[in-house]
Amino acid sequence: MAMSGGYVLPQCSTRGLVFLYYIVNDAALMLLLWVGCLRMSNSLVVAKMEKLNGSARLMIVSDLDHTMVDHHDEENLSLLRFGALWESVYCQDSLLVFSTGRSPTLYKELRKENPMLTPDITIMSVGTEITYGEAMVPDDGWEDYLNNKWDRNVVVKETAKFSELKLQPETEQRPHKVSFLVDKKSAKEVVKSLSENLGKSGLDVKIIYSGGQDLDILPQGAGKGQALAYLLKKLSSCGKPPNNTLVCGDSGNDAELFSIPDVHGVMVSNAQEELLQWYSENAKGNPKIIHATERCAAGIIEAIGHFKLGPNVSPRDVGFPYSKEDHIKPTDAVVKFYVLYEKWRRAEVPKSDSVIQYFKSITHANGVFIQPSGLECSLNASVDALGSCYGDKQGKKYRAWVDRLFVSQSGSDSWLVRFDLWEAEGDVRLCCLTTLALNVKPETSAGFLITHIHKTWLKGYSSADEEFSKL
Ligand SMILES: *[C@@H]1O[C@H](CO)[C@@H](O)[C@H](O)[C@H]1NC(C)=O
Ligand SMILES: *[C@@H]1O[C@H](CO)[C@@H](O)[C@H](O)[C@H]1NC(C)=O
Ligand SMILES: *[C@@H]1O[C@H](CO)[C@@H](O)[C@H](O)[C@H]1NC(C)=O
Ligand SMILES: *[C@@H]1O[C@H](CO)[C@@H](O)[C@H](O)[C@H]1NC(C)=O
Repeated sequence: MAMSGGYVLPQCSTRGLVFLYYIVNDAALMLLLWVGCLRMSNSLVVAKMEKLNGSARLMIVSDLDHTMVDHHDEENLSLLRFGALWESVYCQDSLLVFSTGRSPTLYKELRKENPMLTPDITIMSVGTEITYGEAMVPDDGWEDYLNNKWDRNVVVKETAKFSELKLQPETEQRPHKVSFLVDKKSAKEVVKSLSENLGKSGLDVKIIYSGGQDLDILPQGAGKGQALAYLLKKLSSCGKPPNNTLVCGDSGNDAELFSIPDVHGVMVSNAQEELLQWYSENAKGNPKIIHATERCAAGIIEAIGHFKLGPNVSPRDVGFPYSKEDHIKPTDAVVKFYVLYEKWRRAEVPKSDSVIQYFKSITHANGVFIQPSGLECSLNASVDALGSCYGDKQGKKYRAWVDRLFVSQSGSDSWLVRFDLWEAEGDVRLCCLTTLALNVKPETSAGFLITHIHKTWLKGYSSADEEFSKL
């Protein structure tokens, strides 16, 4: 496949024509990107992109199923470890991109089931849909671009002729993606004849076989790799190319991600044979791609360390007592605070006064805690109350984690930290929109003093049960 500027050239019989197409296509794409850049900077919704004054320190582009999310990890521990690392170190100056084969419907289901972070950018339906921010604002420029030599009806008509192809559920059929299930035995033969037939109908499509069962038909310009190339161009055209990009995957439809120039790549330890085979045929010896020894999100953490892309110790892996570091960040302080809160209630730290002393040492003696019920109480008393909750969630599948952490300076030595604080126990999930006011206090153990905690329930995730939201 001919790659130029990161996207596939239209297939053409003469060299001159190919070149012409390239110029025309590239100009069109650059125009789209430029318009997109303006649209992006005008949109309030894309607050995170706006917040980046310059290039992102790190952009992680990760597949979800069996890469970011380990479906065999009942505790979701690698996901929680990655989440804590990301929120404590990277969330303020880096970009998290999820790139999944899932449609928006199935993506939202996955988010409800797992302690996943909210990404800055979501690429769904095998690189046919790009959306920005929490509100998932679609990239219209990308949609327009994909209409080139694509006719969904023709694809549906041609594929109906193959009895081996079983249509996937309606939610997985998208404007620029038609999806089937087909077994491994027939896949190769079907792909071959199908691509001939569709070519004869004047379409320029891409057929991707993945996970040993999924067969997706997309416009030639689509795919996880093309969507990433588009995104990188878009960021560059806004003058914000990421300083480093790490792509993460486990299966066949991720191979394209690893073909993008200048990116680092990690195939998680549990990667499927189809991706490992692609690697040995196309990328063996490329020092920018590794096969991790760790599964899923733990493999992503491993790769951050291997390529020296930044800190790679998750706050969940830091033992108590915490050592005093030189440049303590508010994000790090907050994540460590709630990791300790969870471990105290799960009885994963020793039952020692030093833990409560630590909570006391980072909260102001006259500080205020406004509970999600609206009740106001003193921080001092709330820490005492937490002291008597040691181990109350032991053996109960209880977890606490933060998402969408956002820091703003409110004075010369004070900060506001806003985030979603999630608490889950089995299938019960609660979330508080939380604001902490912090004062810089270099002499304290964390370098900060919390003066104020204000929580309100996130709609749909509230509870009258006082067992949750102790701090
Ligand atoms: C962006 O730049 C402005 C002015 O140069 C500065 O005040 C602000 O703190 C910067 N924001 C970040 C997130 O670095
Ligand atoms: C990105 O790289 C530039 C140049 O090396 C550097 O000045 C900048 O601080 C980096 N950005 C981040 C967020 O690390
Ligand atoms: C962890 O993942 C499983 C599914 O693999 C889910 O049932 C469980 O509720 C998750 N735990 C949390 C805390 O979200
Ligand atoms: C905070 O609680 C401690 C007991 O843990 C108590 O000795 C102290 O007087 C309290 N401080 C305030 C300001 O209420």
